[in-house]
Parts: sequence; structure tokens; C-alpha cells
Amino acid sequence: MTDDTFPLGDRSVRRIGFGAMQLAGPGAFGPPRDRATALDVLRKAVELGVNHIDTAQYYGPDVVNGLIREALRPYPDDLVLVSKVGAARDDSGRWLPALAPEQLRAGVLDNLRSLGVDRLDAVNLRLLDGGGDFDAQLDAMIAIRDEGLIAGIGLSNVSRQQLVHAVQRTEIVCVQNPLNLLARESLPLLRECQELGIAFVPFFPLGSAFAGADGLLTHPELIAVAERLEALPSQVALAWLLELGPNVLLIPGTSSLGHLIDNMTARRVRLDDEARKILDTITD
Ligand SMILES: NC(=O)c1ccc[n+]([C@@H]2O[C@H](COP(=O)([O-])OP(=O)(O)OC[C@H]3O[C@@H](n4cnc5c(N)ncnc54)[C@H](OP(=O)(O)O)[C@@H]3O)[C@@H](O)[C@H]2O)c1
Repeated sequence: MTDDTFPLGDRSVRRIGFGAMQLAGPGAFGPPRDRATALDVLRKAVELGVNHIDTAQYYGPDVVNGLIREALRPYPDDLVLVSKVGAARDDSGRWLPALAPEQLRAGVLDNLRSLGVDRLDAVNLRLLDGGGDFDAQLDAMIAIRDEGLIAGIGLSNVSRQQLVHAVQRTEIVCVQNPLNLLARESLPLLRECQELGIAFVPFFPLGSAFAGADGLLTHPELIAVAERLEALPSQVALAWLLELGPNVLLIPGTSSLGHLIDNMTARRVRLDDEARKILDTITD
């Protein structure tokens, strides 16, 4: 492990990875607006050093995994693909829970098929609407791992209590909850992960693309800090997350080559005390 990497299960990944959800159509549903660019973004991400890609079969569905497969197979040896199970889409793109044990196993198999791999490095059990029978879901994930279909179990959209319960039952390799400058409810969970040596992967690091998103990148105080540091608001937002702990692994999502390059260079931004003071207390 170096300053730039952190373990994700038995693999080590760079701290800036790539979230692939934005490569599908709007709302993570249907085909991309620009398929060629989507493929270019994936190839460029790996060329720029990304070795951790976050995806899900239900992005599209099958669209994002299909793009990853087309752009990157044969996969580089150091590439860690992480997916999630626990949700499904209906014909209009609505998100539905799919958390029954047989649905979790089917979800993993769908990911293996659409990515063209025999085993995934990690898969997040992604809770939707609070969850259901958490122990039964953990049992299913443990059985899937014991079967050899996945190397590690992650958790997503969980509470601190659920994490504490889960680690008493089995090894958890990563936790993925929303966290950004304006949405900090998961900070105690991040701290818990840090104490346990578990990777914490904030989703919506830039405020997300969903309708009603919080306008993080247009926040006047963030813009002012970025201007003073001669950086972009997006880079400052990512730099703030990176500073929260060595176990923070970023997966900013973009469908744009330019934004990808901006995000990959966020590591160069150095926050000073004045910036930290403003950013730590920013509110919407
Ligand atoms: N576990 C879960 O339940 C869950 C939920 C949501 C997401 N995720 C994962 O987390 C990843 C990240 O979340 P996200 O993609 O929803 O949200 P995000 O990374 O916070 O934001 C994505 C939005 O920011 C824009 N953007 C990206 N880079 C930018 C830059 N440098 N400058 C300006 N705008 C920029 C994107 O637009 P452009 O495309 O135009 O760049 C897009 O509108 C996803 O890709 C997905 O893999 C997981």
C-alpha cells in the first residue's frame, strides 16, 4: 500500500477510480447518448491509471457492463471490477428492490455474464428502502462468496449498526454510501470503516447527476475556494474527500473525457488550512 493506494479485499487499488453509472442513458437507464465517447472514457480511464471500476448490471440494465466488456476486455491484470446487487429496474427504469437470497445470487450471475468474467473482485449488497432481512441477505452473500463467484463482500446504503453487525458475521471488504461536501451523514460510518481497515467508497462524490441533485459544484463557497487554489470546484470536492482518510476510494462518475481528466488530477490539489476551514463547514 502507498499513499495512492488502499486495499480492497485482497487487491490494492489506486485511490481515484471510476464510477461507471454515468455511461448509461439519463437516470442510469438505457443506452448512452454517445456510445463511442462512452467507450473512449473507459479506455482513457484505464490509460490514466484507474484500476478500480464501480458498476452494476442494473445500470442500463446491461448497458454499462456491456460497454466495460467491449472497451476493456481482455481486462488488465490489475483491474478491480466491483459491482452491486440488491436492485432491479422495471420497463420504465424505476428502481425495484431485489434483495431475496435467490435474487442476490441471480444478480451476481447477471454481472458475471454481462462483464464476461468468472469471478468478481467484490460485490456490494446494496440495500434499498432500508433493506429487509439483513441476516438472510448476508447468508446469501456469504454462500455466493464461498461458491467462488465473488472474492469479497461489500455493503452499500448501510447504517453503522448494520456494518458492525455484518463484520461480526463475516469479512467486509468495502462500504459504499453517499458522501460529499454537502451530504455528510455517512461520516461516522467512514470513521468506523477506517478503524476496521475497510475501504470506504463515497458515492455521489460530486453531488450526483440525478434530478434534484444538490448543486454542489455550483456552490459559491466551493467556487471561491477553488478559484483561490487555482483548481476546479470538482477537484476541490474530490480532494476534500480524499483527505477524510486513507481508506477513502473515489469513484467519480462521468461520461465526459474532459471531466475524467479533471477528476484524475484532483490528487494534485493541496488544500490549506483556510480551505479546510471553509469546506468543513459549508452548507447548502
Ligand atoms: N451504491 C449505490 O447505491 C450507488 C448509487 C449511485 C452511484 N453509485 C456509484 O457511484 C458513482 C459516482 O456517483 P454518480 O456518478 O452518481 O455521481 P457523481 O460522481 O457525484 O456525479 C456525477 C455527475 O457529475 C458530473 N461530473 C463528473 N465529473 C465532473 C467534473 N469534473 N466537472 C463537472 N461535472 C462533473 C457528471 O456529468 P458528466 O457526465 O457530464 O461529466 C455527472 O452529472 C456512480 O458512477 C456509481 O458507480 C453507487
